[in-house]
Amino acid sequence: MATNKTKTTSLVNLPLFALIIGLNLLPLISPVSAPLDEQQAAEYFQKNCAACHKIGGGRMIGPDLKDVTSRQDREWLIRFMLDPQGVLNSGDPYALKLQKEANGVIMYTIPGMTREIATSLLDYIESRSRGEVSSSVTDTVMAPTIPPDPVAGDKIFSGLTPLTNSAPACITCHSGAGPRIGGSLGPDLSAVFSRLNGREALMAWLSSPPTPTMRSVFSQSSLTTDEARQLVDLFERWSQMKQNYGQSNFMIVMSVLFFGVGGVVISYLFMAGIWSRRFQSARRRLINLVKERG
Ligand code: HEC
Ligand code: HEC
Repeated sequence: MATNKTKTTSLVNLPLFALIIGLNLLPLISPVSAPLDEQQAAEYFQKNCAACHKIGGGRMIGPDLKDVTSRQDREWLIRFMLDPQGVLNSGDPYALKLQKEANGVIMYTIPGMTREIATSLLDYIESRSRGEVSSSVTDTVMAPTIPPDPVAGDKIFSGLTPLTNSAPACITCHSGAGPRIGGSLGPDLSAVFSRLNGREALMAWLSSPPTPTMRSVFSQSSLTTDEARQLVDLFERWSQMKQNYGQSNFMIVMSVLFFGVGGVVISYLFMAGIWSRRFQSARRRLINLVKERG
C-alpha cells in the first residue's frame, strides 16, 4: 500500500517539475529570438553599428546603409550580418567589392547577433532611409567653430595629459608619426587619418571603438568627446606632415647615433678612470696581503 502511494506522487510530480523548469527557462530563451521594436533597434544600431555606418549622409568606415535593402536582397544581407567574415571567405564577389571599397577593413561579427535582430535592424534601416538623415553622435560633435588642437591631442596620445576615464595612454600600445615611438601591441597610427576615412568617421570610431582590443579597453572607460576630437586633430596633423616623415626619421637615427656614441665614450671614460683605479687598488691590496703572508 505504502509503496503504491509514493509511486503515484512521483508520477504526478514529474510533469509538474518539467512545467516549472520550462516556465523558468522561457524568459531566458524568448528575448534572444524576439524581434526588436523600433526604439530598441535604434539603440542597438547606435551602440553596435554607428561607429562604422551612417544611414544617409555618406560612407564612414563601412558603406552608407541608406537604401541598402534595395541594393542587395534581404536574405544576403542577413547572412552577411550574421557572419561577415564567412561570407567574405566564401569569395562572394559583392562582399569582396564592399571590402575593397572599405580599404580592406572587415566588418566584425557583432556578438549576440541573431536572425531576428538582423531582420529588425533591416526594418529600422529601411524606415530611416525613407525618413530623416542620420543624426549620428558625430553630427553634434563636428561643430566647426572649435579650432583644431593637435597639441592637446599629442599630450593625450603620449600620456602627458591622463585620460579622464583613466584608460591607459595610447602610446603604451601605439606608435605615431615623427618621434612618437610607443608600444607595438596596436598598429602604428601615423596614417590612421586616411586609413579610417577622415574626421567624421574617425571621430565615430574613437567614440565607441569596434575592434576587439580597443573595445575591451575603452568600453568601460570611453574617451570624452573633447579627447576624441583632439586626438582626431592630432591624427589629421600627422597626415598633413607626411613629407616630414623622412626628415624626422633622419633625426631619430642621428640622435640614436649621437647619444649612442656619446654613451660609449662616457662609459669608456668611466671605466678607464674610476673603475680601473678601484680595480687596481683592490689588486694592490691583494698583493700586499699575499706579501704579508708570504
Ligand atoms: C568595424 C566597423 C563596422 C561595424 C561595427 C559594423 N559594420 Fe557593417 N560593414 C562594415 C564594412 C567595412 C562593410 C563592407 C564590407 C566589409 O569590408 O566587410 C560593412 C558592410 C555592411 C553591410 C552591407 C552594406 C552594403 O552596402 O551592402 C550591412 C548591411 C552592414 N554592414 C550592417 C551592419 C550592421 C547592422 C551593424 C551593426 C550591428 C554593422 N554593420 C556594424 C563595417 C562595420
Ligand atoms: C592596451 C593597448 C591599447 C591602448 C592603450 C590603445 N590601443 Fe588602439 N589598438 C590596440 C590594438 C591591439 C588595436 C588593433 C585592433 C584591436 O585589436 O582592437 C588597436 C587599434 C586602434 C585603431 C585602429 C587602427 C587601424 O589602423 O585600424 C585606432 C584608431 C586606435 N587603436 C586608436 C587608439 C587611441 C587613440 C588610443 C588612446 C586613446 C588607443 N588606441 C589606445 C591597442 C591599444
